[in-house]
Amino acid sequence: MAGGTMNKASPALLILPLLALLGGCQPGAGSDADNGAQGELVGARIGAPFTLTDQDGKSVRWDDFAGKYRIVYFGYTYCPDVCPMDLQRIMQAFGRFEKEKPVLAAKLQPIFISIDPERDVPAVLKPYVAAFSPRLIGLTGTPAQIGRVAKDFAVMYHREEAKGGAGYMVSHSRTPYLFGPDGKPIALVPVDDPGTPGVDEGGPDAVLAALEKWVK
Ligand code: NI
Repeated sequence: MAGGTMNKASPALLILPLLALLGGCQPGAGSDADNGAQGELVGARIGAPFTLTDQDGKSVRWDDFAGKYRIVYFGYTYCPDVCPMDLQRIMQAFGRFEKEKPVLAAKLQPIFISIDPERDVPAVLKPYVAAFSPRLIGLTGTPAQIGRVAKDFAVMYHREEAKGGAGYMVSHSRTPYLFGPDGKPIALVPVDDPGTPGVDEGGPDAVLAALEKWVK
């Protein structure tokens, strides 16, 4: 969707070479989490304390999740294709993880952060996240707050006006991060894994495997 390249990024955002590959909300970007004993994001400068507003209008801080693993997905509720597809995949895997390993799943918090705060007010976020899972938290804030959080989490986005005044799209990088209980990044969640043709095509198996690998 909204396939503009993100050429306005400041060098500070391009901390990792792989992040430079994230060219908008497009299938195919991202990386495979299964690259050894250590996640590919270990040591990356991604994530920082924030205060945002959840789908119930309640103030939520990054530090509220201290001691929990976190899946953090940036997107927006009006995203026509990739965001809902990725979220569905993540939350299906999460649901299976909950059934298999409820104790570990209780230590894992899935979080959706909107990069379209003008439209994604709490009342819009609430039914959106609920449709995926009762455990999914949706966060929004002022445009300034979201701008800051996106920068701290190395997420790029920009608004693209539709022709003829028909609203706008938000082009954004596809960044399904997994963080550890200390709030530090571990790996990218492999939402773009092609799966096994005819068996797990576009299914949640790769995501589930990543959760089983990292959440201990
Ligand atoms: Ni999207």
